[in-house]
Order: sequence, then C-alpha cells, then structure tokens
Amino acid sequence: MPPPADVERHYASGGIAERILAALRAVHGPDAVVNPAALAPLDHFHGRGLAATEELVARLDPRPGEHLLDIGAGIGGPARWIADRFGCRVSGVDLTRAFVEAAEVLTAAVGLAARVRVHHADALALPFADLTFDRAYSQNVVMNVADKLGFYREALRVLRPGGVLVLSNLCAGTAGEPLFPVPWAESAATSFLSTPEQTRADLEAAGFTAVEVHDTTEAVLPRQAAMRRRLEREGFPPLGLHVLMGERMRELQINSMRSIEESRARTVEVVARRPG
Ligand SMILES: C[S@@+](CC[C@H](N)C(=O)[O-])C[C@H]1O[C@@H](n2cnc3c(N)ncnc32)[C@H](O)[C@@H]1O
Repeated sequence: MPPPADVERHYASGGIAERILAALRAVHGPDAVVNPAALAPLDHFHGRGLAATEELVARLDPRPGEHLLDIGAGIGGPARWIADRFGCRVSGVDLTRAFVEAAEVLTAAVGLAARVRVHHADALALPFADLTFDRAYSQNVVMNVADKLGFYREALRVLRPGGVLVLSNLCAGTAGEPLFPVPWAESAATSFLSTPEQTRADLEAAGFTAVEVHDTTEAVLPRQAAMRRRLEREGFPPLGLHVLMGERMRELQINSMRSIEESRARTVEVVARRPG
C-alpha cells in the first residue's frame, strides 16, 4: 500500500481557492457570482466534470434533509452542488490537506458552510460514528486505494441500514496499464485499478447487497474522444481543471482519455446497498 503522503503529494499545491476565485473574476468580472454552478468547471475534479456528477446523482437519488457522505471529496465541488441542488447536508473526507483547506474557503464563499464540510481524513478510517449517513458516494477516488475491501467496509459501517453507496470511477481495462501520468497518479506506485468483476466481489465481501456495476465506457467514449481532440488542439478554456492542478493537467487528462480509448481503462458507475 502506498504511504498516503505519496497520494497527497500528487494532488497538493498552494493557494488553490485563491486561484479559482481569481480565474472566475478574470472571466466573469470583479463582481462575478460565486455559486456552485459558476464554480462547476473548476471544482468537479474528474473526467467529464459536472456531467459525470449529474449521472452519479441520478443513481444516488438524494432527498432533501438527508445527510450524505462524499468519500474523497476533493475541493468539495460535487458536495456543494448536491447540497445546493437537493437541500441535503454533505460531509466529506479527503486525504489532501490543501484540498480540504480550499474546500473550506469555497464552501464559505458560496454560503453553504452550515450544510457542507470536508474533513481531513483517510477513507480507510472515516471520522464518523457507525450508521451516520443516509447515502454515500465517491467519484474517482478508489483508483488511489489499494485496500478496496477496507474502503468499502468503512463506507458500509457509516451507512444506515438500507443506505446506498454510489461509485463513479475508472476500472482496469484489458490492454495493460494506463498511460501514466494520469490525473490520479504519476505512476503505477499510487494507481490501483480493479476490474468491474473484482469491484463487485469486494463490495459483496464487505457486506453490500444488490450490487449493480454499470460499464459506461461505450456511452462516454465518443464525447471523451471529442474532448481529448479539443484539448490536444486548443488546451483548456480559461475555466478548466488546469486552474486546480496546473498546466500539467492537460497531459494528465489526455493520457486518461487515451487510456480509455485504448481499452487500458474502463469507466463504471456502481450502486450497492447496505442490507436493511
Ligand atoms: C481525482 S480527485 C476526485 C475528487 C472529488 N471526488 C471530485 O470528483 O471532485 C481524487 C481525490 O481522492 C482523494 N483521495 C485519494 N485517496 C484517498 C483516501 N485514502 N482517503 C481520502 N481521500 C483520498 C485525493 O486526495 C483527491 O482529492
């Protein structure tokens, strides 16, 4: 298992929230509205951005007043967007301290501090009591986690009976390793892609039932390929994930998209339930 510091080193940088707010003002003017929708091109840190979050939410089906868990919440974009759109409370955890600090600033900036909080913690040791959450989700995080059974057991522990866990992430393809570096890892040292079959087996071994593993690769491929060609041709628009991760993000994202196109990785959405 990689030391968590190796994962954190890949993601961390200084002044993230300041860079994001400055980019927003540079594009929309000094009085730019700062809300979850305006931040969306900058704070949903996964391939296909807000569109992927919307697809995850369609499976999660959150209800007003519920308490949700975001495992590996990043800088909190999906948590703010879901809390705002569905009237939920969202608690997140993330391993990268710089992301947690950025999440705090951005959440205060959009006025959601009473309902969204990202804690600095490891998904393998969640700082929450048993049976705390109505629903849980995790986007593009398990790729950094070698101990997937431990990850799923912790998620199960903090879910209420009948509670649902929804995952959206990359799985191993059939044509070898991804083309490193990718957005989640510089090298194979911090990248752990499971197959869809192993994902199902691990979730069931952790105690989840009604496990659905949806391979979404064919559905997302045409749009991914078009995005990859645009990135190669033009780079990012002014509001893009390079503001969060630096100019190297272009190469990382192109490599990830190529890995999917070359069957080195597959995209999946997973739904699993804690028995009632
Ligand atoms: C690609 S980012 C996705 C962030 C967020 N889920 C999103 O979609 O905007 C992956 C995140 O997982 C976090 N992460 C990786 N391993 C983790 C662990 N063991 N516990 C908590 N967070 C972890 C990283 O710090 C990073 O913020």
